[in-house]
Amino acid sequence: MAAEQQMIAIVLAAGQGKRLKSNLPKVLHALLGQTVVERVLNGLASVHNTGLKWDEVVVVLGHQADQVQTYIERLSLPFKVKFVLQTQQLGTGHAVQQVAKTLNYPESTRVLITCGDMPLLTPETYEGILSQHDVEDALSVLAVNTSDPDGYGRVFFDPETLGVTEIIEHKDASEKQRQNPWVNAGVYVANWAALCEQLDNLKNNNQQGEYYLTDVVGLLVQKNKRVKAYTECESDEMIGINSREDLAVASLLLTEKANQALLENGVSLVGESTIAPEVKIGKDTTILPNCYIVGAVEIGDNCTIGPNTTLVGPVKIGNHCQVLHSVLQNNVVIGNDNYIGPFAHLRDQAEVDAFCKVGNFVEVKQTRIGHHSNAAHLCYLGDAQIGSNVNMGAGSIIANYDPILDEKHETVIEDDVKVGCNSTLVSPVVLGEGSCVAAGSVITEDVSADDLAIARSKQSASKNWVSRKKSTTVLK
Ligand code: UD1
Ligand code: CA
Repeated sequence: MAAEQQMIAIVLAAGQGKRLKSNLPKVLHALLGQTVVERVLNGLASVHNTGLKWDEVVVVLGHQADQVQTYIERLSLPFKVKFVLQTQQLGTGHAVQQVAKTLNYPESTRVLITCGDMPLLTPETYEGILSQHDVEDALSVLAVNTSDPDGYGRVFFDPETLGVTEIIEHKDASEKQRQNPWVNAGVYVANWAALCEQLDNLKNNNQQGEYYLTDVVGLLVQKNKRVKAYTECESDEMIGINSREDLAVASLLLTEKANQALLENGVSLVGESTIAPEVKIGKDTTILPNCYIVGAVEIGDNCTIGPNTTLVGPVKIGNHCQVLHSVLQNNVVIGNDNYIGPFAHLRDQAEVDAFCKVGNFVEVKQTRIGHHSNAAHLCYLGDAQIGSNVNMGAGSIIANYDPILDEKHETVIEDDVKVGCNSTLVSPVVLGEGSCVAAGSVITEDVSADDLAIARSKQSASKNWVSRKKSTTVLK
């Protein structure tokens, strides 16, 4: 392959996905913490990051194009993405025609065509078909042998030479042709010039009245151009998302694959959890039942996670941690040797250093907790810097929100501070090093280092109040 040869990818994503019965565009449905199209684009990103670089990636949009485009533009991807609009969905061939009409590429450009609704295709499959595709080949087709070929186009090829003669759509195929278990996955690599030459020759005189991209095969073969099948792909990979059932099946397939890899890498799984394939877990860590772990999540070695724990990334957990019955979501970093839960909620830039306990019914948001500090029961810690060796007593609350001005304020709690039970720290406030807050205090002013702050009404006693009360009350 000449080094200067350009490489582009086209993602077909104009289809509607009626069977999902949803207001959301089909490719924006969530599949284990990522949308369907995000998984497709991340697959292409993996290819890009491991060597075969895309000069650009073109996404063909149609149904709810604006919404899909805005969404994709917000993703962080390692390549440039261009959008082409296909206002009417007249078929896969028509979709690629729109790209050819809008964008120009050098003749020798290699183009990979894939579908925006096939999220389980692996980077290995993309790399495989790309590297088998020769400069002499006009087109390569991903052909998959499946026990359930219903609905797919059938690929006819010589198993010796892999030379493809034609693809016939299920609806256009005879009973005999439907016996062929080799189906078209809808992924192709083409020489751009050879492909463009045939796009204009497509006709829509078929069962669906569509311009089939698959008809390019027959047209190329007529012109003595070489079309090859690439067959190294598991049938699981080509599941397309067209219904809620497909979504459910795809998430099970992804989970199974992820579990297998974890078990092989020294992770113990007890009972059933849902873990996305991009989650990284260190060895000798155990995942107890009923956890939901998706997104950019990294868990260290020797941890116990769960049962009933939700981790939605980005979340990073160090070594030797226990996290039980808790929710950690959206930018949470936990160092080594921490004990989280049961029933803790850490979110939005919560950071816990090491040897800490964040216990029962404690919520932590935009707060950094230093090492050897504890908030063991019933706390809300928001917008705070908390030092090391700090103890937040049961029921202590940081009142960080001013609901009148709709503003958040910061609290600083320096090292070795002890906050008594049921105290309220009204932000902004600073508790100096080693200071102490008496239980039940409402702190509205800074506390100097080493001081004890008491901010509650003084206790008084009414002498023998109980017996006096009884003697003056007429007993019924
Ligand atoms: C297509 C293939 C079929 C293959 C199957 C694999 C054709 C004619 N047939 O069938 O051989 O087995 O995929 O899943 O190509 N799309 C557009 N614009 C359109 C039509 C489709 O962008 O006008 C997009 C869809 O959004 C989808 C992809 O192309 O991402 C495939 O379209 P779909 O209608 O699912 O293809 P099939 O008819 O199932
Ligand atoms: Ca179709």
